[in-house]
Amino acid sequence: MEFTQEILDKVKLLQEKYNLMGQSLDGYLDGLLLANYLTYWDYIQLDTLLSLQNPKTDFPDEEIFIMYHQITELYFKLALHELKQIAYNGKNMASNGHDLGWKDTLDANYFADRITRINRYFESLTKSFEIMVDGMEKEQFLRYRMALLPASGFQSAQYRKIEICTTDFFNLVDKDMRPSLQGKNLNVDELFEHIYWNKGATELSTGKKTLTLNQFEKKYKSEFIALANEYKDKNMWAKYKALSVEDQQNPKLINALKELDVNVNVNWPLMHYKSAVRYLQQKEGDAPATGGTNWQKYLPPRFQKRIFYPELWNKEEHEEWGKGWVETNVFKTHF
Ligand code: HEM
Repeated sequence: MEFTQEILDKVKLLQEKYNLMGQSLDGYLDGLLLANYLTYWDYIQLDTLLSLQNPKTDFPDEEIFIMYHQITELYFKLALHELKQIAYNGKNMASNGHDLGWKDTLDANYFADRITRINRYFESLTKSFEIMVDGMEKEQFLRYRMALLPASGFQSAQYRKIEICTTDFFNLVDKDMRPSLQGKNLNVDELFEHIYWNKGATELSTGKKTLTLNQFEKKYKSEFIALANEYKDKNMWAKYKALSVEDQQNPKLINALKELDVNVNVNWPLMHYKSAVRYLQQKEGDAPATGGTNWQKYLPPRFQKRIFYPELWNKEEHEEWGKGWVETNVFKTHF
C-alpha cells in the first residue's frame, strides 16, 4: 500500500513533535496500535457522573433535589470557565491548536460574547428552576430536608466565586454597611468581615453565626479571600474599566454586562425565592430556613440590593432594584 504525500508529511511532523521532547515516534506508534477506540461513556465519564447521586432518605423526590443542585453547579462551573478566560484576556491559539499562553489585551467583542454565554447559562438556570418550584411533592420535601441539616445551597462556593470574579469586591459588602465603609480603602480581609451573606446565616435568636456559615467559612474563607485578591484587577468591572474609552461605549458589551447583573442578582434569586415560598411558607408561620434565619427578609433581591455594576444604572433603577422594573424596562433592545 502506498502512502500519500499528506500522510508522509504528517508522520514527519509527528517525528518532529516527539524529537522536540526527546521521545521516539516508534514507541508512540506502538501505543497507537494497542490503544482502544474512545467511547462516549468513557469520554464524558458517564459511570462516575451517574454514581454521584446518593440520597440520605428513601423519598424518591430527594434524587430530583440532588440532581438539580448538581446541574446548577455544572452551569456555575461553565460561568466560572468563561470568567477566567475574560480575566486572562482569552487564550492565544496557534494554528496547530497549541496554547501559546494568555494574550496581553482584551478584545471588547470577545468580552461581550463570553458575558453573553454566561447570560445564556443563567437564563437556562432561571427557566429550569421551575423543576424546584413545581417538580417535587411538598410533603416529601419537608420530610427529607430534615435529614440534610445543616447543609444548605447557601454553602455553594461556586455561586460566591462567580460574584467575586464578576464585580469589585466592595459591591459584595452588606448594603447597610456600604455608605460607612466607602472611601476607606479597606483591603479584602477587612471587607470580608462585612460580606453581604453573613446576614443570611445569623441566628435570629442569638445574633451568632449559624453552624451552616461557620462550616462554610472554615472550608472556603481563605479560598474566597485569595480569589478576591487575584481578581482585584481582573474582575469583570476592572476589565471593563481597563478598556479604551471607545471600547467602553460598545453597546453589545454594556448590554451584556447589565443583563448579567439582572440575571445573577434579580432573575435567578427571584426564582430561587419562589421555591422557598412554595415549600417553606406555611399557614401557621413559616418553616424555618435550613440555617435558622429569616429567609423572607434575606432572600428577596430588593432587600439585598446586590448590584455588580452600580455605575451602569441610574438613580431610579437603583431604587427599583429587584422590583420587576429592570427586566421590563431595560431590555427592550437585543443585539
Ligand atoms: C426547593 C428548593 C430550595 C429551597 C426551598 C431553598 C431554600 C433556601 C433558603 C431558605 C435559603 C436561605 C439560607 C438558609 O438558611 O438555608 C437558601 C439559600 C441559598 N440557596 Fe437555596 N433553596 C432551594 C434550592 C436551591 C438550589 C437548587 C440551589 C442551587 C445551587 C440553591 C442555592 C442557594 C444559594 C446560592 C443560597 C444563598 C443565597 C444568598 O445568599 O443570597 N438553592 N435556599
